[in-house]
Amino acid sequence: MRQEPFSYLLVGSGRLAKHFAYYFKSKGMSLRTWSRSTHSIEQLNSSVKEASHILLAISDDQIEKFISQHLQNYKHKIIVHFSGALSITNLLCEKNDSEIIGAHPLMSFSYELYDLKDYEKIPFIFDSKVNENEIGLSKIFPLLSNPFHYLESNKKALYHALCVVGGNFTNILWATVEKEFVSSLKLSPDVLAEYKQRVFRNNLLDSKGTLTGPFIRQDLATIEKHTQALEKVGLAQLYTSMFQVYEQINQAHIAKETN
Ligand SMILES: NC(=O)c1ccc[n+]([C@@H]2O[C@H](COP(=O)([O-])OP(=O)(O)OC[C@H]3O[C@@H](n4cnc5c(N)ncnc54)[C@H](OP(=O)(O)O)[C@@H]3O)[C@@H](O)[C@H]2O)c1
Repeated sequence: MRQEPFSYLLVGSGRLAKHFAYYFKSKGMSLRTWSRSTHSIEQLNSSVKEASHILLAISDDQIEKFISQHLQNYKHKIIVHFSGALSITNLLCEKNDSEIIGAHPLMSFSYELYDLKDYEKIPFIFDSKVNENEIGLSKIFPLLSNPFHYLESNKKALYHALCVVGGNFTNILWATVEKEFVSSLKLSPDVLAEYKQRVFRNNLLDSKGTLTGPFIRQDLATIEKHTQALEKVGLAQLYTSMFQVYEQINQAHIAKETN
C-alpha cells in the first residue's frame, strides 16, 4: 500500500466539501475539516499549522480573500482551490514558499453523494504550471489515481464557460420545458420522461449524430411557426440563437467535408 505523506485540511461544508470529504476519507487520506459555521478561527489556525495541504472548497468569490486573511503567513503550505474559472496568482504566498494550485474537478456536484467508483473517474484540470514545474496528481493527491489534464490560465474562463453551457444550460432548458408543459399545455412533466431518457441516452452514445427535427431538415416553414409559438412564452430569442449556433456548426462541418 502506498504511504500517505500528507495531512489535509478541507475548508468548507457546501456541496463539493461534502463529496470530497467522503471521497478523500474513503481513500484513506488523513483529513481534517473546518467550516466557518461550526468551527472557530482558533481551530482554523491550529488545523492550518498541522496541515501540509489546505483544500479550499469555498465559494469562488471568497477564495482569494480567505487566502490573504488566513493563510498568507504560513510557510511551505500547498493551497489547493477547486474553481474552474479562477486563476489565483502565487504572489500572495510566494514569499513563504507556499504554492497555490487550481485543481478543478470536471463534474457537477449536487447534494447527494455518488458511488466511490464514480469519484475515481472524475478528471482534474490543473492550472498549467506552478513555478515552472508541472504538478502531477502525486504532488497533491498521491493516493488518488484520477485522470488529470493541464490548462493554461488564460483559457480557464472559456473552459469553465463551456462547462456551464454543456451542464447548467441543459438543466435550465429542461426545467423550462417542463414548466411550460405544466403552465401552457396543462400536461404533466411525467409525459416527457421517455423522451428525455432517449435524448440523454442518444447523446451519451453519439453527441453529433443524434439531432433530429427542423434544423437538420432545414424546414424553414416549421422553424418560423416554432418561433411564433415561442414568442408567447418568451423563448423565441433562445430558439433563434440556437438555430444560428446550429447553422455555424453545420457550415463549418460542410466546409471541412468539401476541403
Ligand atoms: N458544486 C459543483 O458542482 C462544483 C464543481 C466543481 C468545482 N466546484 C468548486 O467548488 C468550490 C465550492 O463550491 P460548492 O458548489 O461546494 O459551493 P457551496 O455549496 O455554495 O458551498 C460553499 C461553501 O463555502 C463556504 N464559504 C463561503 N464563503 C466563505 C468564507 N469567507 N469563509 C469560509 N467559508 C466560506 C460556505 O460556508 P457557509 O455554509 O457557512 O455559508 C459553504 O460551506 C467552488 O470553488 C466551486 O467553483 C464546485
